[in-house]
This record gives sequence, structure tokens and C-alpha cells, in this order.
Amino acid sequence: MRHLLDTESLGRDNAIAILDTAQEMSAVGEREVKKLPALRGRTVVNLFFEDSTRTRISFEAAAKRLSADVINFSAKGSSVSKGESLKDTAQTLEAMSADAVVIRHWASGAPARLATSGWIDAAVINAGDGTHAHPTQALLDAFTMRTHWARLTGTPSVGGDLAGMRVLIVGDVLHSRVARSNVWLLRTLGARVTLVAPPTLLPVGVEHWPCEVSYDLDATLEAGVDAVMMLRVQAERMKASFFPSAREYARRWGFDDARLARLDALALKDTIVMHPGPMNRGLEISSGAADSPRSTVLDQVRNGVSVRMAALYLLLSGDMKAVPTPALPAF
Ligand code: CP
Repeated sequence: MRHLLDTESLGRDNAIAILDTAQEMSAVGEREVKKLPALRGRTVVNLFFEDSTRTRISFEAAAKRLSADVINFSAKGSSVSKGESLKDTAQTLEAMSADAVVIRHWASGAPARLATSGWIDAAVINAGDGTHAHPTQALLDAFTMRTHWARLTGTPSVGGDLAGMRVLIVGDVLHSRVARSNVWLLRTLGARVTLVAPPTLLPVGVEHWPCEVSYDLDATLEAGVDAVMMLRVQAERMKASFFPSAREYARRWGFDDARLARLDALALKDTIVMHPGPMNRGLEISSGAADSPRSTVLDQVRNGVSVRMAALYLLLSGDMKAVPTPALPAF
């Protein structure tokens, strides 16, 4: 496997290899181990056609901690505004000797196009494309959950999966590449996933995804859960004002202070609250929940660097296995 385009085609062995390698990488950048020489002489290009804080910065930090040279490209202020195509932009950057191209694009499928077109030879890593996929976000989320699950079950995390873990993914599933990538990866790792959303914010065909679907957040919390992942309401991708209203959305699908307290009342003392960021505080998550001891928001950001180091290292060293077709365990 030369590229990391989605979690559907990643396969269990590659997913576990990335998580295990990320665990080894997690000490790099701390006081004792500043850098590894693993990618010395290699060049990583960050090609961002859409805004990003966490993903872009953590890919840059990851590449630098592996001693790679990094070229950051942002469509804003570039010749893309003069009409330069994806092909010409990518080939221009590859002429500067790119070994890996990390691409975020507003169009679903742009990373796959880059990987399969023959325009460039570099490994392609999808850093989020349209509403399609965000595989490294799902991997860092899984890494965060696996650390928590290993502690909870008293098992070693290295080599482990998420078998038996109950995960809710809540909110604007329709526009979320994070939700899509998480559903496939979490099922590959054996977790039981339930999507909770207003009917208007679920995609057509969701009944074919390997998960359960509910409209009722309170009922799913009552049933017991180990991780609640709140999704950002993506107002910028909505053509008209979304139904329900922001007020009703927050009341029925927001993780507010009352629902945070409900976890205590339900004796769900180990349940974690996740969010990929950026957060709309007061809409899908309250500040009380985002800043609570249950919140893993900053752990997720921290883990993103190790996971991206692992992905870059394994792809550029040729250590990813070929996965012909996605093989998912039965639900
Ligand atoms: N979670 C995430 O992708 O954040 P950014 O858009 O800031 O990269």
C-alpha cells in the first residue's frame, strides 16, 4: 500500500501497525528524544486547499520530528487563485523532489485522483477531502480510544484493538469526513459504533454503513457508552440554514453540562468525551464538557503528531501491506 486515502481500504493489520508505531513514536519530541533520523533526506509537501490548524501543523511537526524537509503550500495566496490546476500545482511541487504529498482539498476524491492519475510519484496522504474521508483523524481518535480502553480493561495497548468498546458519534454526520473514517476504522478494530444525529443530518445510504443509527442522544447514553465523539456542525458546508435550529440542535444533540452530569448519574465514570476540533462551543458541546476531566480534546491533538509520524514513516519505508478489499468483521 503506497498511499493513505481512507480507512475503508486500510485493513486491520495496517491500522494496528500505525497505532503500534505511533505508540513507539510518542516519546519523540519530548525532552529526552527530540528527533529521529528516519526520514532524513526525504521531502514532505503539505498541500492545503482548505483551512486547517491541527492537521497541517501536526503533519509539519511529525515530518520535522522524523528529520524530513517540509514544504508548506497553502492555496490561499498561491497561483491556484490564478487558475492553476491540481495537476500543475502537484507537479510543480514534485519537481522540488517531494517523497510524500499530504493533501487537504474541498473536493471529495481529490487525493485519490492525485494518487491514481500518474501525475506524481510521491506517496499521497489524505488530510481530509470534502465530506469523504479524514483517515489520520480517525487513526488519532482510535489511538486515543485504545490508550483509554487498554487502561480500562487492564490489557496492553500495543497490538490491541477496540473489541467490545461502545462508541457514539454524535451530530452533523452528513458533512463529516471524520465520522465516515471513524465508522470504518472503529468497526475494523472491533468497536460497536452508533451514530446519533437529527434525520436531516444523516447521509443517504447510512443504513449500509457498519454501525447502528439513532436520533435520540439521551436514550443512547442511558444504554451505556465508553466514548462519546461529538462532531462539529459544519455550517460552511450547508447551503441553507440547517434544520433543526441551532437552539433545538444544542438542546437535543448537544453535549451540554446536563448530559455531562448525566454520565455521573448513570455511573459511567470512565466514559470519555471526544471532539476532533475545531469546536463550536455552546452548539455541539458546552465549555463545561469540552474542558472537563472527561474531555480528550487536547490528547487527540497531541496524539495526532505521533500518529502522523507513524503514517509518514510506514508509507515512506514501504512497510504498509497491500489490502485488496476491505474486510470487515460482521456487525
Ligand atoms: N480536526 C481537524 O481536522 O482540524 P483542522 O481542520 O484544524 O485540521
